[in-house]
Amino acid sequence: MIDATTDSTTDSTTHDASLADLATGLGEIDRHGGRVRVDDKAMINCRADVNQLLPLKYRWAWEKYLSGCNNHWMPTEVSMQADLAIWRSRDGLTDDERRAIKRNLGFFAASESLVANNIVLAIYRHLTNPECRQYLLRQAFEEAIHTHTFQYICESLGLDEGELFNMYREVPSITAKAAWALKYTQHLADPGFSTGTPETDQAFLRDLVAFYVVFEGMWFYTGFAQILSLGRRNKMVGIAEQYQYILRDESIHLNFGIDVINQIKVENPHLWSAAFQEEVRQMLAEACELEVAYGRDTMPRGFLGLNAALCETYMHFITNRRCAQLGLAPVFPETDNPFPWMSEAIDLKKEKNFFETRVIEYQNGGALKWD
Ligand SMILES: [Fe+2]
Ligand SMILES: [Fe+2]
Repeated sequence: MIDATTDSTTDSTTHDASLADLATGLGEIDRHGGRVRVDDKAMINCRADVNQLLPLKYRWAWEKYLSGCNNHWMPTEVSMQADLAIWRSRDGLTDDERRAIKRNLGFFAASESLVANNIVLAIYRHLTNPECRQYLLRQAFEEAIHTHTFQYICESLGLDEGELFNMYREVPSITAKAAWALKYTQHLADPGFSTGTPETDQAFLRDLVAFYVVFEGMWFYTGFAQILSLGRRNKMVGIAEQYQYILRDESIHLNFGIDVINQIKVENPHLWSAAFQEEVRQMLAEACELEVAYGRDTMPRGFLGLNAALCETYMHFITNRRCAQLGLAPVFPETDNPFPWMSEAIDLKKEKNFFETRVIEYQNGGALKWD
């Protein structure tokens, strides 16, 4: 336990403990360390005790934690009866729709685990702020709920679980995306890795970009568009409702990641060099290319107002939007959103973050309506 009798004005930094021990919060208890002051707190490489949540420094992180709690839901609350009926009926769905749905589910099923692993095994250790960690714990649980959703869909529709959960290994357009992101988390999960040099701090930023901006902020969006498009036409409405809840969660995950990256930039401007900005833009361009290939693979002919070309345009629009959120120059020429209905549903209402405006839209945990 921290010595509560210590004068709160005492310098709380500890010079004999290793930075790595301080970062995890698992080092020896510093009985003579002082109480943490707001100014002692920092996003990365913090020397103040990470086990003291209060006083809060980053209120946006705490508010996202509260928003996540307010949005709590469980996949099993959604009825799958209508989905089962249409899935079993011979002419309820075309072959192209079935292919897209299965690949979509297969992509998400493993991706939720990859994202959860990255939070727990890579990000958490190096993000040295307790209110951000509080959000990471909430987010990790939400990723578990999302993985649960794919288990529940698989069970409800009687899908081949081996086929679904192995698509990230067996379908090249999905494997290419997973492999691209995994290399960033593998670097951080190495037990020998620690932040504290410009090179390793930038490696940490790369992982945040790969998972929060690319995985959750770009790649999930084609998938959301596919399923929500079906739902708008009254097909697979149970899955579509679950995807709306997932999307609501994911838009907070994305905005948390954007806020974390931007706050690290504010505190460590030397990391955000012109060369590094160019590297991040290149990462987003590569990620967009992988998503375009995935769109062609999942929608070789297009269906229900969606096709690979429109999804490519949509991905250019999203990529530019992510650049703007990170303060980067756009990667593509200015692009209109080809799916304004997606924009109305999510982009405009849910993609606000601390650096643009306060998030106030997530305070209702009630049921969503289809219209
Ligand atoms: Fe998720
Ligand atoms: Fe997520």
